[in-house]
Amino acid sequence: YEPPAFDSKCMTLTQCVFSEQKKVLSVNENLTQLLISIQTAVKAVSSAVQKAELTHMYDMDGSTNVQGEDVKKLDVLSNELFINTLTSSFKVHMMVSKKNDSMIEIETGKRGRYIVCFDPLDGSSNIDCLMPLGSIFGIFRKIHITDETNALQSGRHLVAAGYALYGSATMIVLTLGKGRGVHGFKLDPSIGEFMLTERNIKIPSKGNIYSINEGYSHLWDRYVREYMRRIKNPKDGEPYSARYVGSMVADVHRTLKYGGIFMYPATKHLPKGKLRLLYEGNPMAYIIEEAGGMASNGKIPLLDIQPIEIHQKTPVFLGSKDDVNELVKIYESF
Ligand code: AHG
Repeated sequence: YEPPAFDSKCMTLTQCVFSEQKKVLSVNENLTQLLISIQTAVKAVSSAVQKAELTHMYDMDGSTNVQGEDVKKLDVLSNELFINTLTSSFKVHMMVSKKNDSMIEIETGKRGRYIVCFDPLDGSSNIDCLMPLGSIFGIFRKIHITDETNALQSGRHLVAAGYALYGSATMIVLTLGKGRGVHGFKLDPSIGEFMLTERNIKIPSKGNIYSINEGYSHLWDRYVREYMRRIKNPKDGEPYSARYVGSMVADVHRTLKYGGIFMYPATKHLPKGKLRLLYEGNPMAYIIEEAGGMASNGKIPLLDIQPIEIHQKTPVFLGSKDDVNELVKIYESF
């Protein structure tokens, strides 16, 4: 086997961000530095994920998180890597992490002008079986003097959002805002750089895959039940196929690439759903909308929800425009 020759004209994620910085005012040197720090955190988490068993990172930490779930050492390490790397960038004013009960304040002297909301390790229940994991992040500009309200901006105010997928390769999918497109960068471990591999990703306007935890079907509302009935028993064409990893990043990435719909609805047991608006729903909605898709809580676009607290949950329906629209129409028609 002859490995392909190295492409000397390829673009790294950092080079792409530098070139955006030349074109648009909203991408300035501070945001560029912050995105470089996020890449560093992702590389460190990627390395930790790959070595996890060898370094006993699968072991329980002994604590439970804000959601009452057992915390693994890999969760704790990923969170520390994000917090420490972002703090050292001097570009962050405040952070919200899925793994911390309260907002993470940055000490005076190290503060910058951005608010970062993140889930450092999505899909942690999949750690032991080597299924794909991820990290998700959304970046806001600081707009208020009061700290708390800065994190409680609606998703429309995001200036950048992205996710990292730790799968058969490590990949970052990033958008720098409306009209700037969604781009994919794969980590080349031989040089430690994220290389532009997918420019301007667009989600198909309609797919044929649904992604939902079907074990909860008896707990869904009638709108989701009706939608599921229709896509499994279509008047014309073939029924949709089911795919569900249980790691949001992996399920959303597949939906972005192949089209279809990802759903985490409200259930009788979880009337607001399970997923969190600030660091799960919003960043994914921002990416999906920029790729030409749609993201809703069933009634309004996720990005239009005004958050009232940092860990608030929301039902999530996102994916191809026609598919999500069909579900939203069912919510409207009953
Ligand atoms: P966690 O990081 O605690 O494993 O949560 C993962 C989230 C999300 O990634 C996924 O879409 C969802 O939980 C899966 O939840 P269910 O197991 O209830 O389907």
